[in-house]
Amino acid sequence: MAIILIGYMGSGKSSVGKQLAQSLNLAYVDLDLMISQKAGKTIQEIFAQDGEDYFRKIESECLADVCEQNSVVATGGGIILKAENRQLLSKQKFVIFLTCEDNELIHRLKADQKNIRPIIQDKTSTEILAIYQQRLPFYQVSATMPIDTTNKSIATIVDEIKEKMEKDT
Ligand code: S3P
Repeated sequence: MAIILIGYMGSGKSSVGKQLAQSLNLAYVDLDLMISQKAGKTIQEIFAQDGEDYFRKIESECLADVCEQNSVVATGGGIILKAENRQLLSKQKFVIFLTCEDNELIHRLKADQKNIRPIIQDKTSTEILAIYQQRLPFYQVSATMPIDTTNKSIATIVDEIKEKMEKDT
């Protein structure tokens, strides 16, 4: 059984995922890294050379693989876009949706320029937040546990998730 982290770009899925995995003594899987390894190129190259549809196809294949594993999985922000992915997520016991208040989200994304995200590369803050709003219902239907990360340290978020998981088991 996998513990899956979902949420928009900049919501903290990778940072929280790594520490959560460590603290639960589970393997950590970064879905973007898995996709990149499978395609043999960076996410940016996949989008530029093969297009978003191809990226989404590999993303779905990788999600299906990791759902079978005992691990903590940080997904990419667009994982909820395809119905087949939402269907897979709906079968998981722990799908943790990391939320974040708009200003902090934009601040985090600006501070993380080295991670090139093709979906928002040439977008304004308003456009970036509009995409988040469009996706919000999909995150909400897919999640079993929403967690607000605004103004919280990674350690606090991890503790909160573990506490809620204990209550749910
Ligand atoms: C995407 C988010 C990225 C990555 C790809 C597409 C998206 O992952 O999967 O660039 O559509 O939101 P992060 O959420 O880890 O940035």
